[in-house]
Amino acid sequence: SWTTTSVVEEQVAAIRAQVGTKRAICALSGGVDSSVAAAIVQKAIGDQLTCVYVDHGLQRKGESEQVEKDFVAATGVQLKVVDAEERFLTALAGVSDPEQKRKIIGREFIRVFEQAQAELVAEAGAEGEEVAFLVQGTLYPDIVESGGGTGTANIKSHHNVGGLPDDIEFQLVEPLRQLFKDEVRMVGSELGLPDEIVHRQPFPGPGLGIRIVGEVTKERLDLLREADAIAREELTAAGLDREIWQCPVVLLADVRSVGVQGDGRTYGHPIVLRPVSSEDAMTADWTRMPYDVLARISTRITNEVADVNRVVLDVTSKPPGTIEWE
Ligand code: XMP
Repeated sequence: SWTTTSVVEEQVAAIRAQVGTKRAICALSGGVDSSVAAAIVQKAIGDQLTCVYVDHGLQRKGESEQVEKDFVAATGVQLKVVDAEERFLTALAGVSDPEQKRKIIGREFIRVFEQAQAELVAEAGAEGEEVAFLVQGTLYPDIVESGGGTGTANIKSHHNVGGLPDDIEFQLVEPLRQLFKDEVRMVGSELGLPDEIVHRQPFPGPGLGIRIVGEVTKERLDLLREADAIAREELTAAGLDREIWQCPVVLLADVRSVGVQGDGRTYGHPIVLRPVSSEDAMTADWTRMPYDVLARISTRITNEVADVNRVVLDVTSKPPGTIEWE
């Protein structure tokens, strides 16, 4: 019968048999799937695994710390952090088109990851070891959707940030390929991962880069990070974070409206709240959230985030609106 303990034991044995004494690499995003996949592989092969975290500067408040501190503390995993914020911001400068942003972020991610990977392969080689495996957090629904391929690095492009290169000669380790999302969360808890990681809502690979309508700049990212953190804090405090599928917080950076704040007229930006209810993100409905929670979020964002003088609620279902604004 299915228990999380038996799944973990079975996978640990299978990973040990597959990897042997060689080494493995895993790209961590901070999301549930890659975190649980890395944790289970770490349990199986310990320091033969190295995780790579590309800090692209498009994360939400506290997310990098969650990976760098909490995840490492919970698992003891070896982590290589690449600080690539400047590189991503430079590549994104002047770009407003959503698909172009996705392409740039995906491309830069691949380049940075490949460079980190090459360094790890070289370091291991110097020690006489071989890096032969790449860990992926592929789930059962991912396999069904993409037609059931196995064994080689062939990942559909939206699964990670822009997808990984398809010319890598690594063998894949996919310990979650028989599991559904709720089972992955149970396995994550069994492995001792913090609730903030195990119950994280879906978050797009390109991060806040596609939640700023307009050009992505450091100032705008910092502003959106503050607004998003307030919304998440209030949703959690109201006990709604596990009920809502996800709640994108979007900055309309190219829009300004008149407001009155303190003793004067302001000309600031609107923030959009996009809480949705969904089973699988293919379709969604806007969440009928309690007015008092919306009121608290609105009051706090306009009081605490400079340059924001208006908060609006998105009441569009999917279709016709997508969950994200870009
Ligand atoms: P949409 O906006 O298409 O989003 O209704 C459906 C789900 O996919 C997420 N999403 C992405 N995830 N890379 C990702 O890894 C992307 O480029 C991307 N775009 C959207 C979105 O957050 C929602 O859960």
